[in-house]
Amino acid sequence: MNSTTTLADETYQPRADSPLHERIRLLTGATSWTLHPFPEANLRSLVLSDGPIGVRGVDEDERPSAQMPSPSAVAATWDVELVARLGELTAQEAKRKGVDVVLAPVLNLQRTPVGGRHFEAYSEDPFLTGVIATRLIAATQSFGVAMCAKHFLGNESETDRTTYIARIPEQALREVYLAPFERAVRVGHVWSVMSAYNQVDDGIQIAPATEHGSLINDLLKGEWGFDGVVVSDWLATNSTVASAIGGLDLVMPGPDGPWGQALEAAVAEGLIDESVIDDKVERVVRLGRRVGATLPAAAAVDENLPTDAATRHLLRETIARSTVVLRNNGTLPLSPSSTETIALIGPNAIEPFVQGGGSAFVTPPYASTPEAALRSALPNASITIHRGGAGRRHARAIDPDLVTTPDGRAGYSLTFLDEAGTPVGAPIVVPADEGWNRGAPESATSAHIEALVTLRTTGPHNIDVGVAGAHSVRFNGETVSESPTVADHDIILDSSANNPDGPVVRVDVGDAPRQVLIESTQQVVDAGAYGRFVRFVLRHDDVASDIDTEIDEAVAAARQADLAIVIVGTNEETESEGWDRSTLALPARQNELVDRVVAANPNTVVIVNAGAPVILPWLDRVAAVLWWWLPGQEAGNGLADALLGVTEPSGRLPWTLPADESDVPVPDGRPRDGVIEYSEGIHVGYRGWDKLGRKPAREFGFGLGYGTWRYDDLHVSGSPEGVQVRVTVTNTSTRDAREIVQVYLEAPGSSTDRPLRWLAGFTIADVGAGSSAVVDVDVDRRAFEIWNVDRHRWEIPDGAYVFHAGRSSRDLRQTIAAALKDQRFTFA
Ligand code: BGC
Repeated sequence: MNSTTTLADETYQPRADSPLHERIRLLTGATSWTLHPFPEANLRSLVLSDGPIGVRGVDEDERPSAQMPSPSAVAATWDVELVARLGELTAQEAKRKGVDVVLAPVLNLQRTPVGGRHFEAYSEDPFLTGVIATRLIAATQSFGVAMCAKHFLGNESETDRTTYIARIPEQALREVYLAPFERAVRVGHVWSVMSAYNQVDDGIQIAPATEHGSLINDLLKGEWGFDGVVVSDWLATNSTVASAIGGLDLVMPGPDGPWGQALEAAVAEGLIDESVIDDKVERVVRLGRRVGATLPAAAAVDENLPTDAATRHLLRETIARSTVVLRNNGTLPLSPSSTETIALIGPNAIEPFVQGGGSAFVTPPYASTPEAALRSALPNASITIHRGGAGRRHARAIDPDLVTTPDGRAGYSLTFLDEAGTPVGAPIVVPADEGWNRGAPESATSAHIEALVTLRTTGPHNIDVGVAGAHSVRFNGETVSESPTVADHDIILDSSANNPDGPVVRVDVGDAPRQVLIESTQQVVDAGAYGRFVRFVLRHDDVASDIDTEIDEAVAAARQADLAIVIVGTNEETESEGWDRSTLALPARQNELVDRVVAANPNTVVIVNAGAPVILPWLDRVAAVLWWWLPGQEAGNGLADALLGVTEPSGRLPWTLPADESDVPVPDGRPRDGVIEYSEGIHVGYRGWDKLGRKPAREFGFGLGYGTWRYDDLHVSGSPEGVQVRVTVTNTSTRDAREIVQVYLEAPGSSTDRPLRWLAGFTIADVGAGSSAVVDVDVDRRAFEIWNVDRHRWEIPDGAYVFHAGRSSRDLRQTIAAALKDQRFTFA
């Protein structure tokens, strides 16, 4: 696929004496994140790591990683050059951490706003997703670090994600769900693809994604010519022969799994041809050569990368550029001189939610908070900060100082027990903040835990205990929770902050300090390749002031301030891999908080700290509203830049913001009888809203920025091979500003099912105050094509087309009609 021939292009030929078991051994991980070395092809062990918020590194690597804004924020920049710089940072981070393959980007679409991994996906639009992802892939791989496009295919939901069947009609499959992967393969030349947990019904075959011959062999490797590695999602492979024959190349994690000796036996029995194995080995070897794994591991590069000035600057710029101005009555940008007192309010002002939950997490080197950033940007302002009530359900991780064993040692005591309840070894003492007790002995089936919690302050406290699997939990001898339900490796896949859940007990301490003895008898979880362990988490809230008092205090502070800035949003209990949301409402009493603050002080700016849509009932009653995403380590600085206009918040929504939950065209991601029917077909995201004629709070592509714009002189030229749209945009404001010029197509009167309107191209125009710019937007042939389900091929139907250039999918400023006949356009 590369234009020049390199070592990576050479075919691998197994040596005549190459033992089959060594070749097969290469095809399952050696550990959770590494492969076995393969001396025959001079390959060292390859290393894989998550993506996409940064590069976490593997197992024991506790060095911090540069923490980027989440993918939905990155897409909101619509800025492919910025994305290329993030790709370079990704590659540098991977090299620093000794990682060869970064498990990103996510190319699944935001089919429903409740999707748990919505924040990890780019957009509800296949074209925007494909363009952003492809630039990231190409940029990262140009430094010799592989990317892994995931999750192929149909992982748009998290509910029952390891079992559901995504039933996707053929036209939607081609035009919508495969489209970003096709671009990543054909244009981005991605070196690996991850097959999903779920099953897919593509009309040809119903099979788990890890065994899907029709999608992997015929389409990905056959039709598209993908020459890289198809790796299973972690623990997703459940078969030997079907997955090997279906086209999967690599089973992760290892060292166990369904291949190994079972695959060897299947070859011996003639169920699988050895050439099938060798094709997989060749692909892994090619991947190894592409990332330079034939050489000793690269020398360590700059360890200061996550805190370098250049990294900070890039992340800060990305945040400001991704921030979407949803409303502005002129309050923004803030003027540094006119703001004397600021009440900074909200649960997410105290504790910003900077990355979503699940496998994408990284440990950042630091966190820039809104408070510190505002104090530094506005040194003369007097700033007070108020939570205005908690935004989460669970209490916080307990202060380890409060926890001892019954005999007074710091931590809690844990005794493993065998089937008969007899202790296996002596009790161990575990640090109170350790929720994973790995390495349970083989003979242990349960554990007995004792933790003595000393509550030092008077008044009520909440203590909650999270346990995974069958358990019995007692507080001072009284049973507070019991369950016989046994947990298995699935609990690893629910990598959420709510996991493990468990009983919450309110303890009223009264006037004197008191102690609570917590005892838990619970199962040892057997999670296969992930090991055998016990999950026990202690959380605690010292409920010093209740939510009513906190809201009252925040409102009082807002009333007295010149300006109130309220930061509301989701948190790790809400947005995470592992489950879908059940509501689009902001958690806890945050809407009430905004309403009351706005009533107390009309000069209020609300910042929404969330990756996926939440309903904002007060949106049009507030002076200014910014969408700030899940912003990563430079959170506060990026926000301050956006508020002050140091960098214009020029983000545009990559998805539709509903005004009301009941309007959402695809309101949930739940399988029915094990099947998720993609019955909306090609009408995903804004296309569904347009088709149903529903009005969202803010439409796809919306974002005010700080400029005002006029569009003139739309021209369209060319043939379907390469249509060029030219338009003049004038910045009618008094500030230099950025416009994201969006081109949409329509095919009125089409006899085939087409969206009412679809995104066909976009570009960025940075234009000085009062100036104009002539802007060209290329529209690919693919933008006109439809997938003909009778002939199973791409076609461009003759007929009427309409070209729009505008500010969003509904703010269309210039329009030209065209007629296509015999593949030639004539323009009205
Ligand atoms: C996720 C993948 C991730 C893998 C490894 C899985 O649960 O679905 O996106 O790359 O874990 O952490």
